[in-house]
Formats: sequence, C-alpha cells, structure tokens
Amino acid sequence: MHELAETAKALVAEGKGILAADESDGTIKKRFDSIDVESTEDNRRAYRELLFATAGAEDYISGVILFDETIRQSAADGTPFPKLLESKGVIPGIKVDKGAKPLALTDDETITEGLDGLRERLAEYRELGARFAKWRATYSIASDKPSEYCVWTNAHALARYAALCEEAGIVPIVEPEVLQDGTHTLEQSAKATGRVLQALYTELHDQRVDFTGTLLKPNMVLSGYEASDRAGADEVAEATLECFYKHVPAAVPGIVFLSGGQTDEDATAHLNAMNARGPHPWQLSFSYGRALQAPALKAWEGRPENVEAAQRAYYHRAKMNGAARTGMYAPEMEREAAAV
Ligand code: 13P
Repeated sequence: MHELAETAKALVAEGKGILAADESDGTIKKRFDSIDVESTEDNRRAYRELLFATAGAEDYISGVILFDETIRQSAADGTPFPKLLESKGVIPGIKVDKGAKPLALTDDETITEGLDGLRERLAEYRELGARFAKWRATYSIASDKPSEYCVWTNAHALARYAALCEEAGIVPIVEPEVLQDGTHTLEQSAKATGRVLQALYTELHDQRVDFTGTLLKPNMVLSGYEASDRAGADEVAEATLECFYKHVPAAVPGIVFLSGGQTDEDATAHLNAMNARGPHPWQLSFSYGRALQAPALKAWEGRPENVEAAQRAYYHRAKMNGAARTGMYAPEMEREAAAV
C-alpha cells in the first residue's frame, strides 16, 4: 500500500479518531472568551500542551490537527509539538485553508481561500512533521442555498487543495461542512449534504485525486439546531448513513465527522448509533473540536492547578468517542468520569 493510503488508514484505526485543535486565532479567542482567559500566545501554547500531553489519550486519538502557530510551538520542556505527538504514536496534521470568505455576487455564501502558495506551504509543513492536512468549506441551508455556484466553486477549490496535498505526500482531509443552524428539516439537511458531496467527488475524480489516500470530514445530517421537532439519534444515524451510502465512494477509507456545535454527548451518541449499524464500506470516526474539548476547556479556566482535571475531562471524552467507534458506547459510561 502506498504511504498516503497507509497514513489515511492509520488515522481511522479501530477505536481511534482525530482531535481537531486547529482553531484559528479568531476561533480560539472565542473559546477563551467563554472561560474569561486572554488569548495570548503563551496561554494558547499552555492549553494545547495540556491536550497533547494527556497520558493515555493516544489509546483513542490517532492524529491531531494543528494550526500554523501551533505546529511551530513547543512543550514547556522544549519538545516541538509535532515531536511530542509523534513520540506517542499520534500523527500530526495541519489546517491549511485561510478561511471562508464572502463569495462574490452571492447573498452571504462563502468560498474558502488559501490556494495561492499552497504547494510551498505544504512542503514546509511536511518538513515540520505534518502527514495530513485539512481544508474546510462551509455552506448554509435556505430555500435558495446552497447555490449551485457555491457548491461547485468550493468543490473545485477542495479538489485543487487535495491534489496538491497528494503531490506533497500529505493526506488531504476534505471538509465540506453544511452548517446545521436554522430551522431546516432532516430531509433538507440530507438534500443539501448530498448535493455538496456529489459535486465534491466529481471534482476530486476530475482532478485525479486518489480517493484511497484521502479522508472525508463532513457534517452529520441533522435537523436544524433551531427546529421545533428535532430528530433523535436513530433518525440522525439512518438519514446520515443513507446520504453517505449514495454519495461517498467505497474507495474512501474513512469518514471522520466534525461535531459542528452538537453537544459533546450528542456527537458521541450519533457516531455510536451509526457504528452500531455497521459494518460499512468506510470506517466511521470522529475529528471533533468542540465535542472533545469543551469539558476540558471549562475545567481548565486558564489555571495551572486545573491542568490535571482538564486532562481527565479530555481523556474521558476521547475514551467515550473511542467506544462510539465500535458501537459500544452507552450513556451510562459518562458517569465513569465522576468516579475517577
Ligand atoms: P467541531 O468539531 O468543533 O465542529 O470542529 C471540527 C473542525 O475542525 C471544524 O473545522
């Protein structure tokens, strides 16, 4: 098997998934604001060290997505973060897009930028230890959204990014996120997600991307967060699986869901319900940001004396999601955290 396919497979190894710790400066500031901690370079470094140094997390975490600043930072003892992760058998990754910007001549739709100079940046990131990358595009659901224009321009850019990654020996995670805000139904979410995936795999194929060396990081199919009658875990699992069976080629080794604002326990329960219906043509795993970090962030509060409690909280979420990889999660397992 070639290196890209091997790395992709290792990222979705049994019982494991990915930690997304690649919050941009603006996003990490928002997270720190929620716990009243100033977003300084050293606070960001200390927080990321807390996560990466958590003993035993590597039993459930196969890879970590870093931000440009983070891949260049080191632990307090001077060990560069990519080296710290590698020493635990965790694969370092890197967010390479430059964010979702207004798409010209649309009503508030976005196009993700960052292709200029990407070949050179990928070469540098590989030198720094990155073996996989991430590029996120976003889409909204409304009567006229996502537009064909937004769907296809983002699919084209995602495929250009993915081709450059494969050329550089880096596994591309393609992340088309259909935002689940609003009052839409489960069916509307499925329809928008299906259109986005269909365009994405058309462009990836046309741009000669080898699917076996990629991973997909999508939203789950959900009722809108503000919808009145929201679907439960079984319906979410069935609608999401139906959509992905139609639109994601079996050559893709793994689907690593984002959490996208679901509560941490919902994100775990949904993944579990899908895996309980397996086996599937692809591994179904996680690449969560908020759903892995929220309790740890809250426990930390920016205080060194809380590092251990924060690490326990992060370890627990990693373990719960590890269980959801095999359909063995049960909500009663949540009580274990309090018992430690
Ligand atoms: P969430 O799981 O918080 O949605 O973050 C995942 C991610 O990387 C979004 O780009």
